Amino acid sequence: MTPSDYEFLRKLLKERSGLDLSADKQYLVESRLIPLARKSGLPGIAELVAKIKSGADALTSVVVEAMTTNETFFFRDKIPFDHLRQTVLPALLQARASRRALRIWCAASSTGQEPYSVAMCVKEFAGLAGWRVEIVATDLSQGVLEKAKAGIYSQFEVQRGLPIQMLVKYFTQIGELWQLNADIRAMVQHRQFNLLQDLSHLGTFDVIFCRNVLIYFDQDTKAGVFGRLARMLDTDGALLLGAAESVVGISDAFKPDPERRGLYRLNTDRAARAGMSKVLKLVASGR
Ligand SMILES: C[S@@+](CC[C@H](N)C(=O)[O-])C[C@H]1O[C@@H](n2cnc3c(N)ncnc32)[C@H](O)[C@@H]1O
Repeated sequence: MTPSDYEFLRKLLKERSGLDLSADKQYLVESRLIPLARKSGLPGIAELVAKIKSGADALTSVVVEAMTTNETFFFRDKIPFDHLRQTVLPALLQARASRRALRIWCAASSTGQEPYSVAMCVKEFAGLAGWRVEIVATDLSQGVLEKAKAGIYSQFEVQRGLPIQMLVKYFTQIGELWQLNADIRAMVQHRQFNLLQDLSHLGTFDVIFCRNVLIYFDQDTKAGVFGRLARMLDTDGALLLGAAESVVGISDAFKPDPERRGLYRLNTDRAARAGMSKVLKLVASGR
C-alpha cells in the first residue's frame, strides 16, 4: 500500500467511525482490506481507494465496517453486570417506582452478547416483573446487527462468559448452534447508529453501556462522545465503561463512582456550573 493510500484510508476511517490508527498500522489495514478488495472484484488496495474516491458510498461503508473490531462475549468482564444487579437496578427500582419503566442503551453492541446479557439480568431481577424495560442496542456495523437480531451463537460463543444455567434456561439448541429464546430477543431493539453523530433523538436513558469502543478513538473524539452521552443520561442514571476506558483527564461530564470500577455518574457540579453560567449570562444581558 502506498503511503498516500494509507493516509487517505486513515483519514476516512477517523471521520466515518472515529477509529484512530497510528502511523504503523498498515499491516492491519492490508490484512482486512486486501481480501475485501478481492471479494469486490478489485486487484488490490490502490483500486479500492480509487473506487472510494470516485464516490462509491456502499463500498465505503463496507470498508469502514471491515475495519471495526467486533470482539465481544456474554457478561464480558462480569463486574459491570454485578454493578447493574447490585447497585444500579436496585436504586432505579426505587427511583422509578411510580413510572415502572426503564430505558437501557448498549451504545456499541456488536453481535448482541452485551445487550442480551443485560436482558437476562433484567429478566432475573425479580423487582422488575411487570415493568416496561426498553433495551436499545446500537452499532455502526449493519453486519453485526444482523447477527445480533438472529440471536444465534456457536458453541464457542456460548461457552465464553455465559453461565451454564443461563444457557439451559434461555437458549434453544439448533444442531450445533444455540438460539436465544424469543422472549429475550424481543426485549432488545437493534438499530444502526454511529456514536460520532448526535443521537439525542433516541431520547434519554437510565443506564448506558458504552464499552470497549472508546479505546479505538483519540482524546477529542472520546470527549465528544462523552458530551453527547451526558446529554442522553438521566440525572440519576449510570454509565458503564469498559475495563480499559475512563473519563479521567478527558471529560468532566461524568465522575467515577469511587467504590465501583467502571461505573460513572453525571457530574452534577458541572451541570450546576453550566446552569449557573446560563443564569449569569441572562442577568448580564438584562433578561
Ligand atoms: C469491541 S466491540 C465492543 C462490543 C461490546 N460493547 C463489548 O464490550 O463487548 C466494539 C463495537 O463498536 C462498534 N463501533 C465502532 N465504531 C463505532 C461508532 N463510531 N459508532 C458506533 N459503533 C461503533 C463496532 O462495530 C463494534 O461492534
